[in-house]
Amino acid sequence: MTTAPELPLADATAMTRFHRIFREALDGVPSFVAGAPAGDAARAELVGSYYDNVLRLLHAHHEAEDLTIYPMMVERLPEHVEVIERVNAEHETVLGSLGAAEEAVAAWRAAPSTESRDSAAAALAAMGSILLEHLDHEEADVVPLIGRCINVAEWGQMSAVAFQHFTGDKVWLAVGLIQEQLLASENETMEANMPPPVHDFWTNTGRGMFQRYVAELRG
Ligand SMILES: [Fe+2]
Ligand SMILES: [Fe+2]
Repeated sequence: MTTAPELPLADATAMTRFHRIFREALDGVPSFVAGAPAGDAARAELVGSYYDNVLRLLHAHHEAEDLTIYPMMVERLPEHVEVIERVNAEHETVLGSLGAAEEAVAAWRAAPSTESRDSAAAALAAMGSILLEHLDHEEADVVPLIGRCINVAEWGQMSAVAFQHFTGDKVWLAVGLIQEQLLASENETMEANMPPPVHDFWTNTGRGMFQRYVAELRG
């Protein structure tokens, strides 16, 4: 290690918890997407918006990793640079199928039919098989390295960069999906770091919107 980070070090297992957002979304494709009644515009909109926001969250997550923790790890753990760069490069590999999935979901929302629904389900499944490999590799090979060289402040910086890069239209959905997976103590820290207006919105309105949305999504 060339640069000693300031303590305390981050709890990198949060990465694995966060990834469950994507694993659950992929697990849901057969029932939420393929199982949606053909031509049901309201259902296509509800489910399609969920996937649109989750895929945009995935973009933001990878961009934040690219901009914060991966460069720091390369610098600090040169003896592990091969595995760090190999797993980081998988973000690029995901992009092609991710773009195709985004387009297919948008096409389904715009014109729900058996064909557009099945195309969306197939595109999400194709993207999922590539993404799951990356998540597996990152959790197995990179999370232990994060735990050795990334501190709490830097971990928080990655979360902040991810929120800055999130382009979804339902921030409250992203916050709720994250809070479902993280530990209570991590959620307390997240809420403590929210700007006061965001904190007020989440507490008074957003949390309820999230709960109603996922109740309808999951039936
Ligand atoms: Fe990740
Ligand atoms: Fe990643």
